[in-house]
Amino acid sequence: MTEPAITYRLIKEEKHTGARLGEITTPHGTFQTPMFMPVGTLATVKTMTPEELKEMGSQIILSNTYHLWLRPGAELIEEAGGLHKFMNWDQGILTDSGGFQVFSLAKNRKITEEGVHFRNHLNGSKMFLSPEKAIDIENKLGADIIMSFDECPPFDESYDYIKASVERTSRWAERGLKAHKKADTQGLFGIIQGGGNKDLRLQSAHDLLAMDFPGYSIGGLSVGETKEEMNAVLDYITPVIPAHKPRYLMGVGAPDSLIDGVIRGVDMFDCVLPTRIARNGTCMTSQGRLVVKNSKYERDFRPLDEKCDCYTCKNYTRAYIRHLFKANELLGMRLTTYHNLHFLHNLMSNVRQAIMDDNLLEFREAFMEEYGYNKE
Ligand code: GUN
Ligand code: ZN
Repeated sequence: MTEPAITYRLIKEEKHTGARLGEITTPHGTFQTPMFMPVGTLATVKTMTPEELKEMGSQIILSNTYHLWLRPGAELIEEAGGLHKFMNWDQGILTDSGGFQVFSLAKNRKITEEGVHFRNHLNGSKMFLSPEKAIDIENKLGADIIMSFDECPPFDESYDYIKASVERTSRWAERGLKAHKKADTQGLFGIIQGGGNKDLRLQSAHDLLAMDFPGYSIGGLSVGETKEEMNAVLDYITPVIPAHKPRYLMGVGAPDSLIDGVIRGVDMFDCVLPTRIARNGTCMTSQGRLVVKNSKYERDFRPLDEKCDCYTCKNYTRAYIRHLFKANELLGMRLTTYHNLHFLHNLMSNVRQAIMDDNLLEFREAFMEEYGYNKE
């Protein structure tokens, strides 16, 4: 019996919610949960160096099988010694399986029992991705945590469609598990689907739990449903996942959704939101979103967030960063990206402290009071 690549240790449960403080141990270190994982789709968190990521508190970053398979190719990264070496990142890496990206980016896709046929979004050439192929690519990339190949159906698809899709995703998970050749160094997670249907979500969880994955992802959320609908799914799905397994809510990164997910027992999150909005000049601050290009910041010599102690806020003003964006200077994007990621890491650190102190609901109240909803 080999040691599993990924283990989760539950440290403390919050008294009044489903929140948990824990740590996840990977071949590249032990990391505190709940945590937010920055997205580095193409083996780079856009504009940030690994040193900067480490300094701001990033623990695990996420990369994408689909994108890296198309460019530069899994063999090349394997030849480089794996993704960690290739991109000079010695902390945790998680790769998504490509299931979701094939559905959101590729053209002319056709789903069969075997896998998905599609045309790639770069040059239109014919491609085929299956559970075995996805795991083979993920084995070559060498991330610490890898995802099963799944289908993410629209939240409000018909019962019959989602049922067929959930059952296929379970069969694909089983095939991926069999194809996985690096269980000693890479932890494979199952992805729970089922749209907005409770019975199908529970069926998906039930099927995947029987396969005993070292962790469970919750997919098919943040795809256009309301926050209430997402929270309702989390309310019934996280309690069925055993307490000694990590729970990862895919594609969620709005500050209020992170807190709401943690309250319902989620340990890990990822989202392009903080980095994507940073590159068009939108900043997450303790007072809500701040659009730094706005003319009202022309002579505003305060930092982006007066309560933030990140590198950007310690050294630069709104007026200067606004000027950089107006002049299309690249440093602007770097400074806002640094700040936004630091903001979410700091939020999660405060959330972990609130779990420790058993006052997460009060923390949420105070945070939302200041952050507000859609101030700008
Ligand atoms: N990223 C965000 N949502 C999903 C999902 O449902 N499946 C996968 N594989 N990745 C995701
Ligand atoms: Zn800052």
